[in-house]
Amino acid sequence: MMRTAACIFDLDGVIVDTARYHFLAWKKLADQLGVHFTEEDNERLKGVSRMASLNIILELGDIKTDEISKVRYATLKNNWYVDFINKMTPGELLPGSIDFIMELKKAKIRVAIGSASKNTPLILMRVGILQLFDAVADGNNVSKAKPNPDVFLKAAEMVNIKPQNCVVFEDAIAGVQAALNAGMMCIGIGSPKILTEAHFVVSGLKDMNLEKLLTIEKISGYEKLL
Ligand code: BG6
Ligand code: MG
Repeated sequence: MMRTAACIFDLDGVIVDTARYHFLAWKKLADQLGVHFTEEDNERLKGVSRMASLNIILELGDIKTDEISKVRYATLKNNWYVDFINKMTPGELLPGSIDFIMELKKAKIRVAIGSASKNTPLILMRVGILQLFDAVADGNNVSKAKPNPDVFLKAAEMVNIKPQNCVVFEDAIAGVQAALNAGMMCIGIGSPKILTEAHFVVSGLKDMNLEKLLTIEKISGYEKLL
């Protein structure tokens, strides 16, 4: 008997590779502000909310400013970002993501999104998968950012499954912590060297299937926690 009754997916970096677009838009803002900002610095922004990301960039440039300017900067960045995502196509879905989600749906496992992004509905629409999920919890219906567990707890509540029966797929350290804070099993997407707290790490959803999920439940001892 499987313990997992719902799978909750982070969006950016798990189902679509939008990290590049976030980087390019933040980089444009950083350049305008005269802040030195590298791809390495960008790692710190993954999974983090828009305003928290801006604060990291301002901190890198040792810039102190008022709330009105912050909102203006965040809006500038978001407009550039939206220009990129408005051009996205289904070809930008990460390999294996849809196959795995379809396999879960066939097995009557609920599927949901748990993302910090306020652009979630637009991205899902652009890549043609808005109708695929049983629930979408995102930056529009949850205000506390990861590592706070709220976005995953909200997704679990929306699909009516207890947190202990949910599995989260996450590519960001803050997201893995949010899943653990929600009392959920977490499968990291990326490098085990970075996502050290996850129960298991795979390089992408192309490496996942239902049988492997069962195995991960077993080897992580998660199935015994019922
Ligand atoms: C997360 C991304 O999914 O969403 C972060 O990993 C991003 O990089 C955050 O800052 C908020 O996104 P948005 O689209 O609301 O600015
Ligand atoms: Mg992510």
